[in-house]
Amino acid sequence: MPEFQSWVRACQDRFEALASDRLPAVDRTPRRLHEAMRYAVLGGGKRIRPLLAYAAGVVADADPAALDCVALALEYVHVYSLVHDDLPCMDDDVLRRGKPTVHVAFDEATAMLVGDALQAEAFRVLAEAPIPPAVRADLIRDLALAAGTDGMCGGQAIDLDAMRGQADFPLDGAGLERMHDMKTGALVRAAIVMGARAGGAGETVLVLLDRYAEAIGLAFQIVDDILDVESSSEELGKTAGKDAAQNKPTYVSVLGLDAARQRAADLCESANRALAALETEAGLPADRALRLRQLADLIVSRRR
Ligand code: IPE
Ligand code: IPE
Ligand code: MG
Ligand code: MG
Ligand code: MG
Repeated sequence: MPEFQSWVRACQDRFEALASDRLPAVDRTPRRLHEAMRYAVLGGGKRIRPLLAYAAGVVADADPAALDCVALALEYVHVYSLVHDDLPCMDDDVLRRGKPTVHVAFDEATAMLVGDALQAEAFRVLAEAPIPPAVRADLIRDLALAAGTDGMCGGQAIDLDAMRGQADFPLDGAGLERMHDMKTGALVRAAIVMGARAGGAGETVLVLLDRYAEAIGLAFQIVDDILDVESSSEELGKTAGKDAAQNKPTYVSVLGLDAARQRAADLCESANRALAALETEAGLPADRALRLRQLADLIVSRRR
């Protein structure tokens, strides 16, 4: 495990340096917007999506420079989703990654623009990535689908509708999983598929990785729901107990803590079964999927 931790740390450090280099400088006009973008992206966050992209890149033996672009684009879209998720018109949160949220540290209009600009920058990074044009087009499509109405934005809309008791479908176990798959699963899934695609992975590998990704994408949001109940704001770096306070339908509120823990553990097992099939069905050496296996464990056992 210490070896895994040092891999995680090395990826996080690499990502931090990359993002710091690629984000607009603070002294560039418009300075307030650029300062807020750097505030939102740098110095915090677990970087799970970049880690998954780097780990999936190992499976497909991808070029590190290509993976950097994929990691950056994914984290930009993720951070944009967090900045908007925290706005008063959405979850109305004041704490994120251990710091005041962007609309608190700056203002609401700036927070809106930070999200807008990060989303645009994400697609620019992919468009300029050192990747063959056909693969690049597929990556752009992967990210667009994961971010749009069939993915993150759609899931966020359902989350808000559900809070008002106006969702298009009942938020029972199945409905909740549908919402979670969209609002969080889609981008987590994109991280894995895009990382592998950047290395030119073939259809069999992509299908198996997507099976792994579907399971851990859902597990990720279930664990987020559990931690909202079980953890503290200090540990999380964001306000704990927020879901119950806002009457959000979550895995815990709908199915209970025990069922939530069990479902997360089951999903971790399914994810690992999909990885085992990479060896038996796609003929890949077993050690290629090691990081993905370790990340699945981290996602369900994390404390923040
Ligand atoms: C939090 O994501 C929001 C969800 C989609 C569940 P993370 O738990 O990955 O947040 P950071 O990036 O580490 O801050
Ligand atoms: C947010 O889910 C998912 C996003 C797309 C940002 P949450 O609202 O549960 O995320 P946190 O708990 O605020 O990080
Ligand atoms: Mg939310
Ligand atoms: Mg929230
Ligand atoms: Mg949450």
